[in-house]
Amino acid sequence: MSQVYSVAVVVGSLRKESYNRKVALALSELAPPSLALKIVEIGDLPLYNEDVEAEALPEAWKRFRDEIRRSDAVLFVTPEYNRSVPGCLKNAIDVGSRPYGQSAWSGKPTAVVSVSPGAVGGFGANHAVRQSLVFLDMPCMQMPEAYIGGAASLFEDTGKLNDKTRPFLQAFVDKFASWVKLNRAV
Ligand SMILES: Cc1cc2nc3c(=O)[nH]c(=O)nc-3n(C[C@H](O)[C@H](O)[C@H](O)COP(=O)(O)O)c2cc1C
Repeated sequence: MSQVYSVAVVVGSLRKESYNRKVALALSELAPPSLALKIVEIGDLPLYNEDVEAEALPEAWKRFRDEIRRSDAVLFVTPEYNRSVPGCLKNAIDVGSRPYGQSAWSGKPTAVVSVSPGAVGGFGANHAVRQSLVFLDMPCMQMPEAYIGGAASLFEDTGKLNDKTRPFLQAFVDKFASWVKLNRAV
């Protein structure tokens, strides 16, 4: 049987009707059989505090770190807040990165998608995440870049992804599947 890679999808929005969550779910449906995408929740993670690391570890931190460790790859799908990463996502990145020397992220192939109702498509957030990925030692797919603007019109009233966006997301997730395979083979 051919290999199926598990992908932890980390969504940088806690909003119920989040466009980013909808795009993450659409990517999950479009993914080829070699990838199994699953959203890993971040809304319950207490704010990172180094003091807590030495005390009773929050269950949510343990659960999150375990889920990331168990995954073969990670996909970030995020909005842009004030031209940067939403606090909930940065907190999740920090929680996953510790204790020092035991980062859950290390070496996992990754990619970043940003989604915004605005025209710039969350470019600032996308690149702010990429900045952390360098230090986290995560090989990040460079192309295609995914700055998805005009989020309010991505989905039809039926909830179906529009015909303009679907081929782009399909190409993105297909390329990501190749990226994951290549980097997991190393
Ligand atoms: C605190 C805050 C800051 C925001 N800053 C930006 C921004 O810098 N650029 C942008 O394109 N949209 C910005 N927005 C608008 C978000 O892109 C919009 O709320 C979007 O729907 C959030 O993504 P979601 O639908 O996945 O929750 C901001 C929204 C909030 C709440």
